[in-house]
Parts: sequence; structure tokens; C-alpha cells
Amino acid sequence: MNAPSAAEIEAARAALAKALRVVVLTGAGVSAESGIPTFRGAGGLWKQFRAEDLATPIAFGRDPRLVWEWYAWRREEVRKCRPNAAHVALARWMLSRPGVTLVSQNVDDLHERAAREVAGDADVASRGLPIKLHGSLFHDRCARCNHRVEGGPVNAASVETLPHCPECGGLMRPDVVWFGEMLPARAVEAAFAAAAEAEACLVVGTTGAVYPAAGVAHAAKGAGASVVIVDPAATELDAIADVRLHGAAGELLPPILAG
Ligand code: OAD
Repeated sequence: MNAPSAAEIEAARAALAKALRVVVLTGAGVSAESGIPTFRGAGGLWKQFRAEDLATPIAFGRDPRLVWEWYAWRREEVRKCRPNAAHVALARWMLSRPGVTLVSQNVDDLHERAAREVAGDADVASRGLPIKLHGSLFHDRCARCNHRVEGGPVNAASVETLPHCPECGGLMRPDVVWFGEMLPARAVEAAFAAAAEAEACLVVGTTGAVYPAAGVAHAAKGAGASVVIVDPAATELDAIADVRLHGAAGELLPPILAG
């Protein structure tokens, strides 16, 4: 696939710049250049590991130690990574103009870290925070009473050494959405409300294979938004794109979000 032409980049830039309200939907690809593997492409996590063994409530009930071992490993790997040029460009853009809602499927917290780095001030950075549809790798939630805490290092030697709830003593679990689970209702509501009002929708680094997240782009399109897609490979949302840029987010977002 050829790199996008200057005219295609300009078409994307103009569609986003003129929209009063924009909804941005990001997936694992926006973090690929930070060194975090995606899920479905070559080398993707779901090509190397079975989601049924690691990312379902049934798997956790069957073997919480194994599930925690995998999430603790991911938590430590992701902690070492840094926001890339795509996260930074998005954070700068959101903090420099009103009307942008960022919706992310990612659990890596790199959008937040970029917003904090760019803003350098917690109050300002809060404007750059994403709506997180699939939770966070860096929070634990009690499997019994739902109490949430910030997650630390996990000793997955045995069930006894796993994190336990400071409130009720129940077993904690990673605060991420697993297959077969409902998404956080408030996040879904806010994401679809932003999509319904959007004049443009920027989709970055997602195959668009997982719902309801992918439905955010369809909802925006249905409400009349121009859809701009940035992804190096084919996605299931390509059919609704008004502007389709093939390439890496870290290379394409800085020019299309400039000015
Ligand atoms: P996928 O792995 O399905 O898709 C990643 C997308 O990123 C693909 O379309 C790649 O072509 C693209 N990509 C790769 N490198 C890129 C780059 N440098 N710049 C831009 N795009 C790039 O990941 P998601 O669509 O995010 O759910 O997956 C959705 C959900 O499925 C995840 O949130 C996760 C997973 O199961 C849960 O954990 C609940």
C-alpha cells in the first residue's frame, strides 16, 4: 500500500480541523510504536495466547493464579513503555482545542500519560483523558465487592499471594473488561453521546472487530460525521471511511493534527 499523498493528508487534516465536535476512537495500533503488541495482527497477543484461558471470567474462576501471572507480566511490560508521537500529537491537539472526545479501547494508560506530559498540570491534563471502554491494566477490582484500587506489583506464586481486597478480603482481579463481560455503562453512554454529536470521527489503530467499541464509529457516521481512518492494514471499518490513510499512527497523526 502506498504512503498517503500530501493531498490525502490535507483532506484528513481539513475534515478534522473544520469539525466543531470530533470523536476519536483508538485501538491497540496507536500504541504499537511504543512497543506494545496488538491483539490480532502478526505477533498479536491473541495469536500467541488463548483469550479463553486468560481473558474471561470463567478462566479467572478456574485458575486466578494463571490469569494474574499473565496480567502482571503485561502490567510490567507496559509500564516500561512510553507514549509515542501519536499519543503526544493527540494529547496536544485535544488540549489546544475544545470539542474533542477521545474514546479508547486500550488498557495501557498511554493516552493519560501523554496528556500529563503535555499539560504538566493535573487540571489541564484531565481535559485530555480518554473514555476507557475496556478498563485499565493499572487498576485492580475486587471480584466480590467491586472495590477498586490502584494496582501494584503482583506476586502470582499462589492464590494466597495474589492481591486481596482491603475492604472485604475477596480476591482482586485486573480492572479490565473480559470477553463475555459488559462494558462500563457510563463509559459506553458517554462514548455514544459524543459520537451522536460528532461532525468528524478519527479512528486510529483498530481492526474494528470488537463491539460495542467499533459501534462508536458507525454511530458517528450515522449522525453525519466524516470518518477518517488511520491504520496500515485493512480494517472492518474501511467501508465507512471518507478519508482512509494507510500508515503508522506515529507518522500520520502529527501532520493531520497540526495547526
Ligand atoms: P487489534 O489487534 O484487533 O487491531 C490493531 C490494529 O492496529 C490493526 O488494524 C493494525 O493494522 C493496526 N496497527 C498496527 N500497527 C499500527 C501503527 N503503527 N499505527 C496504527 N495502526 C497500527 O486491536 P484492537 O482493535 O484495539 O479487548 O482490539 C480491540 C479489542 O480486542 C481490545 O481492546 C481487546 C481485544 O480483545 C479487550 O481486552 C476487552
